[in-house]
Amino acid sequence: MADPVIGIDLGTTNSLVAYMAPQQANGSAAGTGPVVIPGEDGSNLLPSMVALDENDQIIVGNATRKYLIETPERAVYSIKRLMGRGVEDIHDELKLFPFRLAEDIQPGEVLRIELGEKTFTPPEISAFIVRQLKRNAERFFAGPVTKAVITVPAYFNDAQRQATKDAGRIAGLDVLRLVNEPTAASLAYGLDKKKNGIVAVYDLGGGTFDISILKLHDGIFEVIATNGDTHLGGDDMRWMIFAAIWASTFAAVARPCKPYARLSSRQKLHCQHGIPPGSMSNYRKGSATSERSRANNSSS
Ligand SMILES: Nc1ncnc2c1ncn2[C@@H]1O[C@H](COP(=O)(O)OP(=O)(O)OP(=O)(O)O)[C@@H](O)[C@H]1O
Ligand SMILES: [Mg+2]
Repeated sequence: MADPVIGIDLGTTNSLVAYMAPQQANGSAAGTGPVVIPGEDGSNLLPSMVALDENDQIIVGNATRKYLIETPERAVYSIKRLMGRGVEDIHDELKLFPFRLAEDIQPGEVLRIELGEKTFTPPEISAFIVRQLKRNAERFFAGPVTKAVITVPAYFNDAQRQATKDAGRIAGLDVLRLVNEPTAASLAYGLDKKKNGIVAVYDLGGGTFDISILKLHDGIFEVIATNGDTHLGGDDMRWMIFAAIWASTFAAVARPCKPYARLSSRQKLHCQHGIPPGSMSNYRKGSATSERSRANNSSS
């Protein structure tokens, strides 16, 4: 396929790349419509995670999981939450997620995130994910891919939209258009064929749970209202479940999170996730500690 245009769903927890298979030469509609392009591992989804390995090489997707566990200061996830935002409006995110901001950022400056000894802006980190998707598409088409449309939440403001476009540009793509996620979902389900009507799209994503009301006229979608909770995605649910299990299992043997300022960056990471410092090392010491923890919990 010459000069294909790819569609990128740049998600909080998972991203993917797809293309619209064109109508066949004989006019048949068979095999047309959206087709997801798998990665080298055969998976349609690319986890939206980026890490820096021991040699300062960038790793993207599933392979970053070991870094998240072993060297969390060299890995980052959910970067979509920081796209196009300033240091003054991300306090909520910092309470809930272990983003490590570069220390010298001034109000009004672009955010920079520490990965090991290096720092990157959110669009640069997203660009690593986009670049991997571009590579997957180039392998699939056996040729260069330079054009894309990228999805964004309907509630994204101009700065967040611009940051998403920047990510595409940094990854070497000409971003022809940004498409609202509820619009992309409606297109994927072929709702544009209906020509006219009102559509309600619920999106339970990794970062948010939202609803958008779309007006469809002559096959064109207009977002007329959108609302939701930006901290009610699968990401948030997973951490709440994890923190609750952790607290009930290990709290008895854990050191407290205060005084916070004296904790190492790894311990701060644990505290931000509701995991008291010391509990992880106790866990790693072996089953004896875990057994003691369980005994303490059951007697309390
Ligand atoms: N097969 C599955 N089983 C269980 N949970 C899943 C499965 N697939 C996805 N999830 C979870 O559902 C949530 C939504 O995933 P999805 O990939 O739609 O989010 P996203 O597109 O990355 O986020 P957003 O649209 O908010 O930016 C995530 O927390 C993900 O971990
Ligand atoms: Mg999504």
